[in-house]
Amino acid sequence: MEFSIKTLSPEKAKTGCLVLGIYQEKELTAPARRVDQAAKGKLREALRDLPGKAGSTLLLRLPGVAAERVLLVGLGERREFAEPAYRDAVRGAAQALKDLGAKDAVFFLADLKVGVRTLSWNVRHAVLGLREAFYRFDQLKSQKKAAAPALTHVVLPLSPNPTLQEALAEGAATADGADLARTLGNLPPNICTPAYLADEAKKLARQYKLGIEVLERADMEKLGMGALLAVARASHLPPKFIVLRYNGGAKGRKPVVLVGKGITFDTGGISIKPAADMDEMKFDMSGAGSVLGAIRALAGMKAPVNVVGIVPTCENMPGGHPTRPGDIVTSMSGQTVEILNTDAEGRLILCDALTYAARFDPAAVVDIATLTGACVVALGHVASGLFANDQKLADELLAAADDAWDRIWQLPLWEDYQEGLRTNFADMANVGGRAGGAITAACFLARFTRKLRWAHLDVAGTAWKSGREKGSTARPVPLLVRFTLRHAGRK
Ligand code: BES
Ligand code: MN
Ligand code: ZN
Repeated sequence: MEFSIKTLSPEKAKTGCLVLGIYQEKELTAPARRVDQAAKGKLREALRDLPGKAGSTLLLRLPGVAAERVLLVGLGERREFAEPAYRDAVRGAAQALKDLGAKDAVFFLADLKVGVRTLSWNVRHAVLGLREAFYRFDQLKSQKKAAAPALTHVVLPLSPNPTLQEALAEGAATADGADLARTLGNLPPNICTPAYLADEAKKLARQYKLGIEVLERADMEKLGMGALLAVARASHLPPKFIVLRYNGGAKGRKPVVLVGKGITFDTGGISIKPAADMDEMKFDMSGAGSVLGAIRALAGMKAPVNVVGIVPTCENMPGGHPTRPGDIVTSMSGQTVEILNTDAEGRLILCDALTYAARFDPAAVVDIATLTGACVVALGHVASGLFANDQKLADELLAAADDAWDRIWQLPLWEDYQEGLRTNFADMANVGGRAGGAITAACFLARFTRKLRWAHLDVAGTAWKSGREKGSTARPVPLLVRFTLRHAGRK
């Protein structure tokens, strides 16, 4: 799907489908008025059949306009028009374009005033919304549904300038990164293994000329990554430790390090999970997928940033040679951990990855993990959990998340919560009680990041959806991309 920005008059645009927004009050926007005039009032006449709710659509053929079809898209009430309505409208329009099988379109939603947002914001979100709606994952179906003719070209009818072109490039590259993260999340655990993730990272490295290193079990042993290796222990699949580097920024500028949890399947280990919906634990590598996706996006748009992606990846299995509840292991940091629950494995692989991250002398470290069911209880499927040991970094992430509309909510990381991890037998236990489970998990990680500017994103509730729409959401790729760019000074 190609996008371009150019000035067009709505009634004269030769296109398969002209997309126009309509407020519920039915007072026409400027382009809609021009189309109505060209069509001698036929647009206004049709309005009574448009429900008006944001995202509702009505497809028309109108005389007097050059477009083959006109798609009216409800925007909801004008005075309530803001980010959610814009996103609903984009999504509704995308769905209708898909159903129609349009090959090209002129997208007159891009010029709407969305609260205090800039046109760049509109452009980024239009591109991401359209690309997401057209994403398909059917590579494992033996009979592919006859593909609708793809929407190959979308014009955003705005007056072109370098800022908008940059927003367009960012949107498209972010969508490419999101596609990668989504597909990695959707792939089953017998295909998307630690070795598969390492191969995908190598592919990215080749394609975008990135630095790459994949550490094997023996390397991890040498580094003393006892916590990570304890998780990988019962699986027949060897663990991998992936390090990807993209240096698009000034030489010597400290990198942002992104660390993604890459559990390709989480059975819980000996503390085994119940059978119901256990298949969904294939999404437990979503953090890893989002790191690879964000790096693909940043490298793809040649962003002026330095980033390092770290992906510790393995499978959490039971077996005849497993890690047992009660085992005590030594992490790479030297701190010892009593593993009281083998299902709290994410923090075990992350703690060694966070220790490793320090060697890059990072400007900031952000880890991304489907870490706790407790975070899903706290924040549902809307906001990802944010924890940070540095409020300036937390604020940067909050602002980027608002900008990317990939929302996060900060939870406390107070020392009071550390008490839960106390044990008589080691430096710490790997679980606290049930209370505040997302926080005690973050507190565990905090013990390995004392010397870093660090933040943790718990995406257990946001990285994927269950039910009919089951699948990876690619969150928080848009946030990570926006954060890294803003951190380097991009608006
Ligand atoms: N991968 C899970 C967390 C998870 C749960 C993600 C539900 C998505 C949906 C994680 O490894 C886990 O099992 N966490 C445990 C921690 C507990 C044992 C302290 C949990 O949340 O139950
Ligand atoms: Mn687990
Ligand atoms: Zn897990």
